Amino acid sequence: MPSKLSRRAFLVRTAAGTAAAAAVSRSPLVFAAPPDSPNDRIQLGIIGVGARVQSGLIQAAMAVPGIEVVGVCDAYKGRVQRAVARTGGRARDCGDWKALLADGSIDAVIIGTPDHWHRLQTVEALRAGKHVYLEKPMTLAIDDGPEMIAAARASGRVLQIGSQGMSSKTQETARDMIKAGKLGQVTMIRASYNRNTKSGAWLYPIPPDADEKTVDWAAFLGPAPKRPFSLERFFRWRCYWDYSGGIATDLFVHLLTTIHFLMGAKMPSRVVAMGQNYRYRETHEVPDTVNAVLEYPEGLVVNLSSTFNNQASAESGFEVLGNEASLVFRGGQMVLKPENAIEDNQWVVTSWAEELEKKYYADPKVQAAESPESWTPQMREESETFGEVGPDATVIHMARFFESVRGGKPVVEDGTTGHHAAAAAHLVNASIRQRRPVEWDFAADRMA
Ligand SMILES: NC(=O)c1ccc[n+]([C@@H]2O[C@H](COP(=O)([O-])OP(=O)(O)OC[C@H]3O[C@@H](n4cnc5c(N)ncnc54)[C@H](O)[C@@H]3O)[C@@H](O)[C@H]2O)c1
Repeated sequence: MPSKLSRRAFLVRTAAGTAAAAAVSRSPLVFAAPPDSPNDRIQLGIIGVGARVQSGLIQAAMAVPGIEVVGVCDAYKGRVQRAVARTGGRARDCGDWKALLADGSIDAVIIGTPDHWHRLQTVEALRAGKHVYLEKPMTLAIDDGPEMIAAARASGRVLQIGSQGMSSKTQETARDMIKAGKLGQVTMIRASYNRNTKSGAWLYPIPPDADEKTVDWAAFLGPAPKRPFSLERFFRWRCYWDYSGGIATDLFVHLLTTIHFLMGAKMPSRVVAMGQNYRYRETHEVPDTVNAVLEYPEGLVVNLSSTFNNQASAESGFEVLGNEASLVFRGGQMVLKPENAIEDNQWVVTSWAEELEKKYYADPKVQAAESPESWTPQMREESETFGEVGPDATVIHMARFFESVRGGKPVVEDGTTGHHAAAAAHLVNASIRQRRPVEWDFAADRMA
């Protein structure tokens, strides 16, 4: 590429994001009363107050005016104490999730438990008349999805899944650009998550006071197969198939939610994937390395990859590739890169008779196509960088949940959306474990 055209001007676009952030913080505080609530206050309960809840969700919920966290429960005592402290002592320890759901003063719940609990607790919460904010991935298995969607429909309550990326201003901008044709024809998306730390591989530290007295093992296991007491399984549950789908459902599900959102895609029609445990054979049942190819009927192929052995050579990120431009998400920024593609047939034409070669290059059409000097202004266009500004996507996602609860606004990530993102991740695991390509049956809405 000629150097004069390779320079990049990075314009950080803050104006749109700032306006959006202001709009969020100005969002009306007076809504239509929730179906069963006497006033504008919403009493919130939280089932499973682990790392995700205490490092973001509880703060995001308490930041919404009128929301009061009144009850929590968890299978490890230390987390209950910390969560109650985070509410300034206002929330009470409900003991267990069934008791929390039986509390008629609670209007809505956040479910932040490991994935093997998502189906049962969501269905029961909806049956108990609660609105539900459920962390991603929505399901541990594809068949969980339809039951949860049906329960939400029957209850008339809100079910929102917690893939906060769907509320990111950057992703909204990206979707609008793709829709407007700024990228031309998009046929491929490449995305990756690469890590090289123990915490990145989910080998989290175990609290020193954790033992059979402070950890309720039976409450953790619930619908999962019976196993002897294990602090590793309790605190590092993502490493085991009983409770998690590993890389595909923990990490790829974020990418898949975004891809479906950006492209208006529903499900891949065909998936082939390989996964292997190269580094963490002693600690992980789930693979530490996954490569997957997902084909979508919208005329799109998606490459997803993840390794827990290196984070430098293949930086984590996301690339949406069109024939006129790419959108690259990396390091919290999104860059729009126009294609600078010029034809180059010189090495072929030089093998022709000299006279024919000269004639070929005398053609103005060839000159226009093959000479950098003749590039159209569009081809010279410089890259633009869009930075995420304003509140964190989790804060917006949570605020939007309560807007749906109060005002009946459409749910930003409903059960069907969450089900399909998780189901696509489950197809990746099915292909890995069955060592074959797998397909989606669109009519039956299940794996073929
Ligand atoms: N959206 C995101 O970016 C994001 C980030 C991290 C985690 N998550 C999701 O959040 C969920 C929780 O993940 P985490 O990292 O917080 O895990 P975690 O292990 O830190 O927290 C889960 C908590 O649930 C508790 N628990 C287990 N069984 C219970 C039961 N029957 N009743 C009450 N509590 C119970 C555990 O004791 C634990 O404290 C997962 O589904 C995960 O995928 C989402």
